[in-house]
Amino acid sequence: MARSVVFAALWSVAFAQKCPIQFDGRVPQAATLDSFDGNESPYNPGYVLGANLKWSSALQFPSVNTSLFDASGTKAVEVTINDKSIFTPSADNVQKGFRRAELLPVSVTGTDASTTGQKTVHFSVMKDSARPLNGSHEYQLFFLESNDYSTNQVTLKYGTIIGGAKKDADTLTVTGNVNTNPVATLYSTKFTPGVWHNFGIVLNFSSGTTQVYYSTNNNPLASVTRALRNSVSGQGQYHFGLLKKPIGGGSDIAHNGFQPKNINEGVIFGGIFQEDSSKSGCVSLKP
Ligand SMILES: *[C@@H]1O[C@H](CO)[C@@H](O)[C@H](O)[C@H]1NC(C)=O
Ligand SMILES: *[C@@H]1O[C@H](CO)[C@@H](O)[C@H](O)[C@H]1NC(C)=O
Ligand SMILES: *[C@@H]1O[C@H](CO)[C@@H](O)[C@H](O)[C@H]1NC(C)=O
Repeated sequence: MARSVVFAALWSVAFAQKCPIQFDGRVPQAATLDSFDGNESPYNPGYVLGANLKWSSALQFPSVNTSLFDASGTKAVEVTINDKSIFTPSADNVQKGFRRAELLPVSVTGTDASTTGQKTVHFSVMKDSARPLNGSHEYQLFFLESNDYSTNQVTLKYGTIIGGAKKDADTLTVTGNVNTNPVATLYSTKFTPGVWHNFGIVLNFSSGTTQVYYSTNNNPLASVTRALRNSVSGQGQYHFGLLKKPIGGGSDIAHNGFQPKNINEGVIFGGIFQEDSSKSGCVSLKP
């Protein structure tokens, strides 16, 4: 009892915010890794993780500069994967083709207001030089997965995108709906080490458009695309972390394909939140 009261206090931080908040996944300085295992953090304690793993073993608090939207007393959190990061939603569904660890804001039910009106998802990502990603593989660092699991309406990918055009694998790519053929690249940029890459992704669920805002380090976000036509219907859940796809695997990459052994990989996140941009397109460009 006393424990949960303490944790709840750790997770309540007041932010001066221009636009109304839909969900807030920013991590207060005082938050502990253990608090991600219970119901105190704003993230789902059970998903999406390897079977029998706990968030306290899959997350780290890295020592890095404060990201753009962590300026009011919140800190970075790193999501890591290893050979045990095999998501097993049921005994007969062992996703051994993937390595996965993705934080899901617990207020997002799949049919809530985070996927209606116009909303802007904010997050920053940075490489961890001690836990490099493998550019031979495709990763998803962020995605909205529809409520019927049939598609990802918007993603942030890294590495060699399966079926994608040949390009430098060391690239962050924001894509449109992955069920579109070909999948649209909305924006891409080099994943420079030691640099925060800040994204604001504006989703208009009424008009079916996606607009990308981007900056590095402490620079305010700037629009890097127009509001581009993109099918964002189907509501669903926002994922922040690592979904590493296999090499090969044919038509069922969740269960087949090659994954090298003894991996130790991670990506650092900062400033995860979503704001309501319905009123006069309110998008926070800086804190
Ligand atoms: C942190 O920010 C300072 C000031 O911008 C910069 O000089 C330094 O290189 C940064 N450190 C890291 C680890 O990025
Ligand atoms: C990167 O992935 C490829 C393909 O799975 C694998 O052959 C290679 O050993 C990996 N490289 C490292 C440094 O782990
Ligand atoms: C979202 O799209 C709808 C339908 O086109 C439009 O009426 C609305 O103004 C857009 N929202 C914003 C904030 O631009």
